[in-house]
Amino acid sequence: MPRRAVIQSIGMAVADKVMTNDDFAKFLDTSNEWIQSRTGILERRIASDEESCSTFAIRAAKQALANADVDPESLDLVAVASVTGDYQFPSTSCIVQDAIGAKRAGAFDIGAACAGFIYGCQLVGSMIESGAIQRALLIGVDVLTKTVDWTDRSTCILFGDGGGAVYMEASNEDRGLISTVLRSDGSGGRHILIALGGSKNPIGAQRSAGCSPYVYMEGREVYRFAVKAMGDSCCSVLQKAGMSVDDVDIFVPHQANERIITAAADRIGLPPEKLFLNVHKYGNMSAGSIPVALYEAQATGRLKKGDVVMTVGFGAGLVWGANLIRW
Ligand code: COA
Repeated sequence: MPRRAVIQSIGMAVADKVMTNDDFAKFLDTSNEWIQSRTGILERRIASDEESCSTFAIRAAKQALANADVDPESLDLVAVASVTGDYQFPSTSCIVQDAIGAKRAGAFDIGAACAGFIYGCQLVGSMIESGAIQRALLIGVDVLTKTVDWTDRSTCILFGDGGGAVYMEASNEDRGLISTVLRSDGSGGRHILIALGGSKNPIGAQRSAGCSPYVYMEGREVYRFAVKAMGDSCCSVLQKAGMSVDDVDIFVPHQANERIITAAADRIGLPPEKLFLNVHKYGNMSAGSIPVALYEAQATGRLKKGDVVMTVGFGAGLVWGANLIRW
C-alpha cells in the first residue's frame, strides 16, 4: 500500500460578530434584496479590532489537534494559507506554531488567495507522501474585512472572517488525496488586488492613482473567470483520477458567491444534492472558506469517512485549482 496523506481531523473558528445585509443598508446605498440576489450572502462574521488572522488560525488549529488527540510536539509542520497574515513578516504560521506549542515543527505561509487551501493540500500532502514529514497542520484562514473599503458597496459586502485547520498524517489507509490540479494566469492579476503595501508600492511611498490600500476588484471579470475556472478544474481533476461526477459524494467549493457556485456546478453536471453551501452564513472567507465548509459538512453528517469529496477554489493571482480527496 503506498504512503498516503490522510486528513484525520478538522477544526474551525470564525469571528463572533455577525453583520447582516440590513446592517450594510444603514450606511451604504444597498439592500438585503440586492446582496442576497447577486451573491446568496445573508450575513457574514467580522473580526474585532483585537482579532487578527492568527486569532482564528490558533483556535482552529487547537480544535483540530484536540479532535485527533494529537500532541502538538509531534507535529513536523505548521502551514498557513492566507493573504491577510498578522504581519508582512514574520509569517503567521510561526505565530501559530508558538501558540500551540509545536516545538519541533517547521512553519511557512502559503499565498494563493482564495485557492490557498487547495494549494496547501497538495503541497503538504506531497510532503507527507514523499516521506519528508509525517504529521502536519494545514490552516486556511483570512480576515479580508480588514482590507476592504467600507464605502465600496461592490466589494465590502462580499467578505467575512475566519478559517479552518486540518490535521494530516502519513497513513497506509486507503484514504487521502486522490488527485489535484493547480493553475494560474498572472495576466489577470489586475482584476483583483491590493496595490499598496508591497515592495512595488510601499506604504511610505506617495499613493498614486489606482494604488489603493484596499481590495480592488472588477466584479464582472472575476465572476466570468470564476465560473470557467471552477468548471474546468473540476473536469480536469476528475479526468486525472479517472473518475466522473457520479463518483463524487459531495462537492465543497470555495464559498464566494452562490450564483458562481451553482453556475459552475451546472456546467459540470453535478446534481444539486451533492453540493455543500454555507456562503449565506459567512460570505467569502477566502482561504478559510473551504476548510470551514468541510468542517460543517462533516459536523452535519453530509461528509463521512470514506466519502469522495471534490474541493475547488479560485482567487486573486489569478489562481485556481481542485482537489479530490477520499475523506
Ligand atoms: N448594492 C446595490 N447595488 C450595487 C452593489 C450593492 N452592494 N454593488 C454594486 N452595485 C451596483 C453597481 O454600482 C452597478 O450599478 P450601475 O449599473 O448603476 O453602474 C450595478 O449594481 C451592477 O454592478 P455589477 O458589478 O455589474 O453587478 P454584478 O451583478 O456583476 O454583481 C458582484 C457584482 C460583485 C456581486 C459580482 O460581480 C460578483 O460576485 N463577482 C465575483 C466576485 C468574487 O467572487 N470575488 C472574490 C473572488 S475570490
